[in-house]
Amino acid sequence: MSQLVLAIESSCDDSSLALMDAKTYELKHYSKISQELEHAKYGGVVPELAARLHTKALPDMLEKISPFFSEIKAVAVTNEPGLSVSLASGVAMAKSISLALNLPLIAVNHLIGHIYSLFLDSKEEFPMGVLLVSGGHTMILYIDEGLKINILAQTNDDSFGESFDKVAKMMGFGYPGGQIIENLAKNGDEKIYNFTVPLLHDKRLEYSFSGLKNQVRLAIESLKNPMPKDYENIASSFQKTACIHICDKLEKIFNIYKFKKFGIVGGASANALLRSKIEQICVKYNSSLYLAPLKFCSDNAAMIARAAIYKYQKSEFTTINDIQINPKSKNFCIN
Ligand code: KG4
Ligand code: ZN
Repeated sequence: MSQLVLAIESSCDDSSLALMDAKTYELKHYSKISQELEHAKYGGVVPELAARLHTKALPDMLEKISPFFSEIKAVAVTNEPGLSVSLASGVAMAKSISLALNLPLIAVNHLIGHIYSLFLDSKEEFPMGVLLVSGGHTMILYIDEGLKINILAQTNDDSFGESFDKVAKMMGFGYPGGQIIENLAKNGDEKIYNFTVPLLHDKRLEYSFSGLKNQVRLAIESLKNPMPKDYENIASSFQKTACIHICDKLEKIFNIYKFKKFGIVGGASANALLRSKIEQICVKYNSSLYLAPLKFCSDNAAMIARAAIYKYQKSEFTTINDIQINPKSKNFCIN
């Protein structure tokens, strides 16, 4: 009989459920309903709308896995960080399931979930360096032998993914902007616009994307009669500059830490240019590169289930009275 962990992810604008076998890591069920189209009209995520859509989607998705109920041994849910009302929808559902089916509850940090997207069907392999690039975060992490997470660099303002979202919005395109800008960039010439790489000659190991975003805004505003080619060229130059910025600081960190293993996670880790540039750095520093499958780079419950299994194996449970949502949580640790 399989020991299934049910995981719920609803920290932002994706409702997702997964059932994973705690012994074999086999993904027995996976479903995700993205709210992108609903939020696109507003150019970004509207929290109240997100919560309402989670409240509709999650029970519908749960109904479909009722045949598995007797095999579920624990229910896991993302409780931090994220949008408060979105997190609350998932946690409320997890509490109800825990009560109704008399199951232990596991609280999972969303960022640790992203790290586990590298090990969906295998044992985790720490120590390793990780670049986390999502809509809310841009961080270089070192997960050491004791599984302590050390933050080596992070952004001071916008995140990498968020800057793509904002550039797409400035051009009048939808949300999320990552894939839109990447697609535009494919047909553009990256040499037409000469955006300055942020903090290039600055020793600080940190990121900043707001200045680059403003350079792009000025370039867009200077267009008298914008043509599709202009947007393609701007997207291409912007994407190149943003990726150079990530890699410039990353290489400085590689020089210090000499990671033997390095992973890229988060929604924006799907970006092909970023992947190929980091691949070159890993080759240069003789480091093994770990990537999540493209389908599981963006928010999903499979990575939450996999992170939860680590806690399940150690019987690290919480209760319906103790579980809290921490929308702005900054502390995260695996052990
Ligand atoms: O991890 P994720 O699904 O949600 C958060 O936890 O924030 O990441 C979503 C972010 C969005 O900002 C989206 O525009 C960005 O990831 N993204 C990309 C790409 N695909 C998604 N950014 C750059 N290039 C992409 N191909
Ligand atoms: Zn995420």
